[in-house]
Amino acid sequence: METLTRAEPARSKYALYQQICEQMGELLGDEKNFVANAANTTALLYQMLPDVNWVGFYLAEGKELVLGPFQGKPACVRIPFGKGVCGTAAAQRKTLVVPDVSRFRGHIACDSASRSEIVVPLLNWGKVLGVLDIDSASLDRFDEEDREGLESVVSVFLAAESTNDLPDLSDDAAES
Ligand code: SME
Repeated sequence: METLTRAEPARSKYALYQQICEQMGELLGDEKNFVANAANTTALLYQMLPDVNWVGFYLAEGKELVLGPFQGKPACVRIPFGKGVCGTAAAQRKTLVVPDVSRFRGHIACDSASRSEIVVPLLNWGKVLGVLDIDSASLDRFDEEDREGLESVVSVFLAAESTNDLPDLSDDAAES
């Protein structure tokens, strides 16, 4: 796709995330389909971000997160809220940066190569729609700039769907 070009050698992570957000604007355009936009977002991030081995969404369904569009090796399908890095980020409604997954109690290993991870919740008026999960085979791959950059990416992603078209997959139990 024309809009999906690899990044120039990044001047900084901020510049790279700015470039990604701009490309997302072009890539998603006026499309409001959640799954299509989620799929293209994972493809773009997987292409653009250096040193990542898995990029994907988990979507809230009842008291669990269920695997959504992703790039990388096949992954575990269901993660209860509060479990693993993904379920913990969803339950706490905040981004988790894990420099060494072996030191995160309850980490769920889908790809044994993964050494560090970042999980950003998708929040819509306080409701957890799911999470964006990114893994790396390198220790300490993600930092504060990645957190800010990926939270911006998630904002652009959520803005592409109109509020009415966002899936309402979580229930009250999932919010507690
Ligand atoms: N490591 C995640 C599970 C998902 S995989 O990384 C794709 C976790 O602990 O929740």
